[in-house]
Amino acid sequence: MTIHIGAKPGDIAETVLLPGDPYRAKWAAETFLEDVKLVNEVRGMLGFTGTWKGNRVTIQGSGMGMPSLSIYANELIKSYDAKTLIRIGSCGGMQDKVNVRDVILATACSSLSTPSRGIFKELQFAPTCDFELLHNAYKTAEKRGVPTHVGGIYSADVFYDERPDLNEEMTRHGILAVEMEAAELYILAARYGRRALAVLTVSDHLITGEALPADQREQSFGDMVEIALEAAFA
Ligand code: HPA
Repeated sequence: MTIHIGAKPGDIAETVLLPGDPYRAKWAAETFLEDVKLVNEVRGMLGFTGTWKGNRVTIQGSGMGMPSLSIYANELIKSYDAKTLIRIGSCGGMQDKVNVRDVILATACSSLSTPSRGIFKELQFAPTCDFELLHNAYKTAEKRGVPTHVGGIYSADVFYDERPDLNEEMTRHGILAVEMEAAELYILAARYGRRALAVLTVSDHLITGEALPADQREQSFGDMVEIALEAAFA
């Protein structure tokens, strides 16, 4: 047990999917895994372990924002020896070519800051994903016919952004979408020699103002979970 995860040693699989929302962790575990067991409910941040095509998987909520994700990823890596960590979550589209419902595979994350800033100081470290996971995820998305974009994203510190000029610069420099967790996940994976990837669904669009209707969220979220699972075990 750790401060924020009540799972017993061995209850957490080597492969962990990390949605921000604990109820999405519950939905994904109940929908895609077999022999599902609740392994964490500390602070309501639900985590489940089960099997997918015979492979053990944990789906653990990470909360919103990098400080929260940092807590769960640190404990999963250092105390439970998680080896593959895949964020599954939503993002806001930042390019005309990116549509609501599309999937984004994040190669690299720009940010204003991360919880690791104190370590890097003046160094502008470029957090990047694991190539094998990216390759597997892209092949799976292509095979499934899911519209998918591969490229850089922006990991923001705030949802209610007061800097429209900064978002414009992100768009001008080809950033595909904004979310709030992946940069720190990639940094921790780099630090501890683990594999990480963010597989994201575009839930809303910063330029068009479009948002995914509630009844279509589940289907899109399902595509993303299956891409993440296929990528982890390909
Ligand atoms: N900003 C930050 N994170 C997000 C957004 C957004 O617009 N949409 C989904 N996650």
